[in-house]
Amino acid sequence: MLVSAKEMLTKAKAGKYAVGQFNINNLEWTKAILQTAQELNSPVILGVSEGAGKYMCGYKTVVGMVNGMLEELNITVPVALHLDHGSFEGAKACINAGFSSIMFDGSHYPIEENIEKTKQLVNACDILGLSIEAEVGSIGGEEDGVVGAGECADPEECKMIADLGVTMLAAGIGNIHGKYPENWQGLSFETLDAVQAKTGDMPLVLHGGTGIPADMIKKAISLGVAKINVNTECQLSFQEATRKYIEEGKDQQGKGFDPRKLLAPGAEAIKATVKEKMELFGSVGKA
Ligand code: 13P
Repeated sequence: MLVSAKEMLTKAKAGKYAVGQFNINNLEWTKAILQTAQELNSPVILGVSEGAGKYMCGYKTVVGMVNGMLEELNITVPVALHLDHGSFEGAKACINAGFSSIMFDGSHYPIEENIEKTKQLVNACDILGLSIEAEVGSIGGEEDGVVGAGECADPEECKMIADLGVTMLAAGIGNIHGKYPENWQGLSFETLDAVQAKTGDMPLVLHGGTGIPADMIKKAISLGVAKINVNTECQLSFQEATRKYIEEGKDQQGKGFDPRKLLAPGAEAIKATVKEKMELFGSVGKA
C-alpha cells in the first residue's frame, strides 16, 4: 500500500540520512526502482512530473500500475507516489487519482500567491492524510519546459511556507535540474544553513540530484536535507546501457529484438544507479 512520505522523512531528518525520490517514466523504470528499494530494504519515493504523467496515459494509469506492482512484486518497504513540480490543477488531479504525496511548486508566483495556494492544498492533504511538498526559490535548469534560473531561496519566505504545515520544503540553493554546467558555483551551504535555522525540524528537499558530488550531498544531509530528487542520472544510465546493447549488435542476434531483452540492460543500469544513490544517501536498511 502506498504511504504518505511524512513518516519516512521525519525518521530520515532525525537519523541524518535522506530518502531518494526517483522519477519514473514507464513500467521498466518503476519496476527497477521498486525492486532495488526492496532488495536494499530502503524507503523510496516515486516521482512523477506532469509531463511523465501524461506520457504514462494519465495519473490514474500511474496509480493503477504502481499499486499493482506493490502487490504483485510483494513490495513491503514504504513507498510514496509523489507528484513532482505540480501545478495547482495537477496537484488536485493527483489527489483525486490516488497519489499518496504531492508537490505544489508555486515558486514562480509572488510569495503571497504561493502561500495562498499552498495553504489550500495543505488543508486538503491534511484531511486525506497525504504529504505535501512546497517550493521557495526556483530550481535552475529545464524540466518539462519549465526553466528556472537556480535561485537561492529567502530563508524568511521559507519559514512562512514551512509554517503553513507542509510536510517537506524544497528551497533553491543554487541547484539545477539536469547536468551541471562546467562553471557551476556549487550548492550554497550558507543558504541551506540559514533555511534550516528558520525551519527547524522541517525535512528539506534537494532537487537536481544528478551530478552533485558525493561530498556536497553528505554536507547537505548534515544541514537538514532529508529528501533528494534524482531523475536525469537514471535516464543517462538507461541510455548508455541501451546504446551499448545495440552497438554490440545484440538486438540482431537470436531473439535480441524482443523488448523484454532489448530493455533489460537499461533496466539493470537504472537499478545500479538507484543502489548507488541509496547507499550514498544512507537510506539502505532504513525501511
Ligand atoms: P535531476 O534530473 O537533475 O536529477 O533532477 C531531478 C529533480 O529534481 C526532480 O524534481
